[in-house]
Amino acid sequence: MRISVIGCGYLGAVHAAAMAELGHDVVGVDVDERKIDALRAGSAPFFEPGLPELLSSGVSSGRLTFTTDFADVAGSTVHFVAVGTPQRPGELAADLSYVEAAIDSLLPHLSAGDLVVGKSTVPVGTAARLAERVRTVGAELAWNPEFLREGFAVKDTLEPDRLVYGIPAGDTGERARALLDEVYASILARDTPLVVTDYATAELVKVSANAFLATKISFINAMAEIAEATGADVTTLADAIGFDARIGRRFLNAGVGFGGGCLPKDIRAFTARAEELGKGEAVAFLKEVDKINLRRRDRVVELVTASLSDDTAGRKVAVLGLAFKPESDDIRDSPALDVATRLGKLGIRVVATDPEAIDNARRVNPALEYVATADEALQDAEVVLIVTEWREYRDLDPERTGTLVSGRTIIDARNVLDPAAWRAAGWTYRGLGRP
Ligand code: UGA
Repeated sequence: MRISVIGCGYLGAVHAAAMAELGHDVVGVDVDERKIDALRAGSAPFFEPGLPELLSSGVSSGRLTFTTDFADVAGSTVHFVAVGTPQRPGELAADLSYVEAAIDSLLPHLSAGDLVVGKSTVPVGTAARLAERVRTVGAELAWNPEFLREGFAVKDTLEPDRLVYGIPAGDTGERARALLDEVYASILARDTPLVVTDYATAELVKVSANAFLATKISFINAMAEIAEATGADVTTLADAIGFDARIGRRFLNAGVGFGGGCLPKDIRAFTARAEELGKGEAVAFLKEVDKINLRRRDRVVELVTASLSDDTAGRKVAVLGLAFKPESDDIRDSPALDVATRLGKLGIRVVATDPEAIDNARRVNPALEYVATADEALQDAEVVLIVTEWREYRDLDPERTGTLVSGRTIIDARNVLDPAAWRAAGWTYRGLGRP
C-alpha cells in the first residue's frame, strides 16, 4: 500500500520505518527540515534501539521517503497522523494544535476514498470532531492508538500486544477496517489480538492504559512512603505481591517515579477532559497519582541534601542519568533532569552524565555541568545519585567506584543496586522505600 505518516517524532518516525519494513511504500512528512534531512539520509534524529537499521534498509530500498511538502502525500491511500499532543503550558489539558494543523495541511491533498488514521493520544471526543472535517472531502477517519514504549518502539510496532481500531458504524467503517487490515496484514497473520470498536472507546483505551500504568507505579511509590515510615522494604513487598498473577510484578518498581512525554501529560489531560465532561470525580484519584509521583522527586532531593548535611554550596554530586528512562535520549518531564536541576538551584555542584541524553538535557538546562562518562562524573564526588537505571550504572562495581569518589554515599533512586554489596564495600547506601 501507499501510506503517508504525518509527524516524524518518536512515534511517527518509528511507525513510518516499520510500515516500510512491512513492505508498504511510505512517505513520512514533518515540518522540521533538520529532522527530515536526517531521516532522508537514513539516520535517526533521536536515540531508539533498532531504528537506524530499519531506516537505512527502508530508505535504501526506496520504499521509505521523507518530505516537508504535504503535497507529497497525494497518491497515498492511508494517512497516519502521529504528531505530538503535549501538555498546554500552565494547564492540565493537552495541546491539540499539532493535530489540528496536521488535518488542515492534509485536507487539500486528500482524495475521495482515502483513510486518515489517528495515532496521536487525544482527549476522548476528538476523533468524532475530526471525522466531520475529513468527510467533507470524501475521505474517512479511523482511530488506531499506539502503545509503543520508547526503547522498545521498533519491537512494539512490529509485534504489538494488540491492535485497536476505532471506526464509525456502517459501510465506510467497514471499508476503513478493510484498509487497516491490509496495512497490518502480516501482523494480524500472527494472531495478534484485534479490537474493533467506536472512536470514543479507541481513544479511551489509550488514555486509560497509560492512566493504569501510572497508577500502578504511584501505588508502589505510595507503599514506599509507608515503608520509609516503618522500616519495611518496598522492593521485597513488590516481589511478594507481584507473585499474585492478578497483580503482577511489572510496573511495580518503586523509585523516583514516572516521567516522559506520555504518562505525566496523559493523566493530566485525562483529568482535564473528565472535568469538561462533568465527570471529574471519576478520575480524581489521578491527581493523587500525580502528587505521589512528584513527591518522590522531593524525596530524592531531600536524601541528597541530607547526605551533604549542613553546607551544600559547591559540594560535588555525581548525577548518573538524565533521560526519563534507560534506552532513550528523551528528557521530556524527566525525573532525573528535574532532580538534577533542583539540586543545581540549591547551589550544589551537579556533575551529570547520561549515555544518550546529554545534548537534549543541555538544551533544556545549559547551567548544569555535563560530562561524557560516569568515571568523570564520579571523580571526587561526595555523593553519587543513580537516577536513570542504564545498564552501565546498574553494573557499577562498588570497590572500583569507591576509588574514584571522595565520599562513599550512594543514593539509588531506582532501587536497582544490591544494598548489601555496596554496604560491604563501605558505602552508605540509600534507596527509596528501603531501609
Ligand atoms: C508509555 C507506555 O508504557 C506505552 O505503552 C505508551 O505507548 C507510551 O507511554 C505512550 O503513550 O506513547 P513510555 O513513556 O515509553 O511508554 O515509558 P514507560 O516504559 O511506560 O515508562 C514510563 C516511566 O515510568 C519512566 O519514567 C519509567 O522510569 C517509569 N517507571 C516504569 C517506573 O518508575 N516504575 C516502573 O515500574 C515502570
